[in-house]
Amino acid sequence: MSGPILVIGAAGRLGAAIVEAFADRPVVAHTRSSLDITDSGAVLRTVAAAAPAVVINCAAFNYVDAAETNPGEALGVNALAVRSMARAAESSGATFMHYGTDFVFDGDAAQPYVEDDSPAPRSVYAASKLLGEWFALDVPRGYVLRVESLFGASRGWTGRSGTLDGIIGSLERGDPTRVFTDRVVSPSYAPDVALATRHLIDSGAAPGVYHCVNSGQATWYAVAEECVRLLGIPARLEPITLESAPLPATRPRFCALSNAKLAASGFSMPTWQEALQRWVAARGGRAGTLQ
Ligand SMILES: NC(=O)c1ccc[n+]([C@@H]2O[C@H](COP(=O)([O-])OP(=O)(O)OC[C@H]3O[C@@H](n4cnc5c(N)ncnc54)[C@H](OP(=O)(O)O)[C@@H]3O)[C@@H](O)[C@H]2O)c1
Repeated sequence: MSGPILVIGAAGRLGAAIVEAFADRPVVAHTRSSLDITDSGAVLRTVAAAAPAVVINCAAFNYVDAAETNPGEALGVNALAVRSMARAAESSGATFMHYGTDFVFDGDAAQPYVEDDSPAPRSVYAASKLLGEWFALDVPRGYVLRVESLFGASRGWTGRSGTLDGIIGSLERGDPTRVFTDRVVSPSYAPDVALATRHLIDSGAAPGVYHCVNSGQATWYAVAEECVRLLGIPARLEPITLESAPLPATRPRFCALSNAKLAASGFSMPTWQEALQRWVAARGGRAGTLQ
């Protein structure tokens, strides 16, 4: 492989994990302050200047509810900018790695979604991410890793909070913590997603869509209970349902994803419980003493 790894969106939760996972290789990392991905000319110039072997895009507009009233920005960042980056990667002869979401599905399934299941987005955010997937896959060496409920931020993280950041932070403060009992998820630990990305690049696995979540599935309530167990602190969990806590954007009820295709390519994702334990330990929580 000749040429560096170009990481775009390097200041995000996943972007930081990707930069760390490739620390032993030449990396060119851009954050929003050095590259606005909605500037297609800048994208083309930046990619050409780096002459990368691989372009990894971690930048996205992830404000699911705000996207409902701001579809222009969601589509600009999650879809049109992906087209610019994919095309720029192709013209430089680089592989293009991009990240999708479980939200492309309607959430009406009863068993984990596989890559061939038909998407049916139910929110502006979900539709913008699906369009981005299509643009990413429209180049010969395009990969989309669908991730879900991404976690892995360090303590004191100042970027956008994810659901698990919110749960852990609330538990640590001793606040009552409201969690859904009727949303089923397969969370993705950012460092594991970064290693899976590395595997796909290095193994020569076929381009296309891969579900990249930690193994297993659980309701948010069960995930929160596991956080409480690992932290070893008293907690006040308050069960809520999707119906009792309406949000501007529709959430899929059942979002478990099967990672069997990734496993068949030679990379097994650890269970979400094991990943959660590593995260709590890395943040300096109680689980660190259980190792
Ligand atoms: N987080 C989740 O639960 C989740 C779930 C499913 C899929 N995903 C996908 O996983 C990938 C990584 O997500 P993440 O949680 O790591 O994201 P994140 O922490 O929200 O980071 C996204 C980064 O993109 C940057 N960005 C936004 N607009 C930009 C622009 N116009 N130009 C350049 N940079 C821009 C943001 O900068 P600012 O902070 O300055 O805005 C931020 O640093 C994304 O594709 C996301 O859609 C995430």
